[in-house]
Amino acid sequence: MHTQHLSPGLEGVVAAETRITEVDGTAGRLVIAGFELSELAGHATFEEMISLLWHDELPDREALAQLQHRLAHLRTAPDIAIQLLASAAEQRLSVMDALLMAAPTLRLGQHEAGSSEPLSLALRIVACLPTLVAAYWRLLQGAEPVSPREDLGHAANYLYMLSGCDPSAAQTHALDTYLCTVADHGLNASTFTARVIVSTRSDILSAVVGALGALKGPLHGGAPGPALDMVFEIGTAERAETYLRAALARGERLMGFGHRIYKVRDPRADVLAAAASQLYEKDGDRELYKLALQVEQTALQLLEELKPGRDLHTNVEFYTALLLHGIGLPTDLFAPTFALGRAAGWIAHCFEQQRADSLIRPQSTYVGPHGRKWAPVEQRQ
Ligand code: ACO
Repeated sequence: MHTQHLSPGLEGVVAAETRITEVDGTAGRLVIAGFELSELAGHATFEEMISLLWHDELPDREALAQLQHRLAHLRTAPDIAIQLLASAAEQRLSVMDALLMAAPTLRLGQHEAGSSEPLSLALRIVACLPTLVAAYWRLLQGAEPVSPREDLGHAANYLYMLSGCDPSAAQTHALDTYLCTVADHGLNASTFTARVIVSTRSDILSAVVGALGALKGPLHGGAPGPALDMVFEIGTAERAETYLRAALARGERLMGFGHRIYKVRDPRADVLAAAASQLYEKDGDRELYKLALQVEQTALQLLEELKPGRDLHTNVEFYTALLLHGIGLPTDLFAPTFALGRAAGWIAHCFEQQRADSLIRPQSTYVGPHGRKWAPVEQRQ
């Protein structure tokens, strides 16, 4: 009889050493490659973040220009991906499901797009995922996909492909801030999935597709849409308490609150709240921003009252919802846009796992019966 320690959900288990991010759930700190999140978010573009995550350094001018150029050049998705997305749109599949179907096609054309070295594939994935999301979104609206532009940065080009119009500097800056803020976060479920996949010496594209599947669930990347829906349904600050109390009484979870690691406020919530405040100051709906703050305060009070000792605080998703809405993205694009940012982190972890070259293979404790006997099918009851 084995007496191994059981950790349901692997809570508290350390499965890797990483130089990429440090998540301190007690102090509410997030450090990315040595930088506090607040040093990077609002300053770095997503391209700079990619360089930091993949090469452990912020790029100098020349390296940044080279990276921007390579990414911009790799944005065109294979034709078959667009055909696949058109079929998915006919069946009104969710954007995450469509992305999950189209992402594997990025293996096609890999050799024409560059060499087959892992960095080249990684760049192609990061460059093309926004193209797939934007093309699908337009197909869902009955519009033609808009071809990517090479003269725009990563964030601006995504917004351009969605609307067909040049985004404002404020929208682009807000999206860069968002993508950098969510780019990596330790060994979360999707990143762990990616690491497990490459730990078998499988490849980065397989890892990203697996990670997309893990991110799709509402307990991970799917929360911001429902979080914003909740704010809209509440509608006015006076209704917040009744609405939230009733939801908690029904045993529902309030989306945008609680976290496996953070037992204090998620530091990403502060960064995104500041970015949202800036954006709504300029051209957003200030009343919605104020309402969201009031809903957050009421939710925190009720969680403390009704779920004492569980340390439930605002997580990244609550202000993700507000910020992405302020940028002009519909709720259906919240989770896929999260994926576009997190893809940089998934790939950074894949590189790290490949260097470690050790198979991830935990154990399970068998709790089923023993001693059952075979019976031919006609004798089974
Ligand atoms: N609203 C109400 N109650 C909650 C919430 C919430 N948002 N989160 C946790 N709880 C309660 C649970 O019901 C449970 O209560 P109980 O002790 O009475 O049974 C207790 O707190 C502990 O919950 P667990 O599920 O064990 O906590 P875990 O660490 O596994 O969950 C999670 C973390 C999944 C994020 C959870 O807090 C949740 O479901 N939040 C809402 C969804 C959400 O916002 N997800 C995005 C997370 S951030 C990200 O992934 C990028």
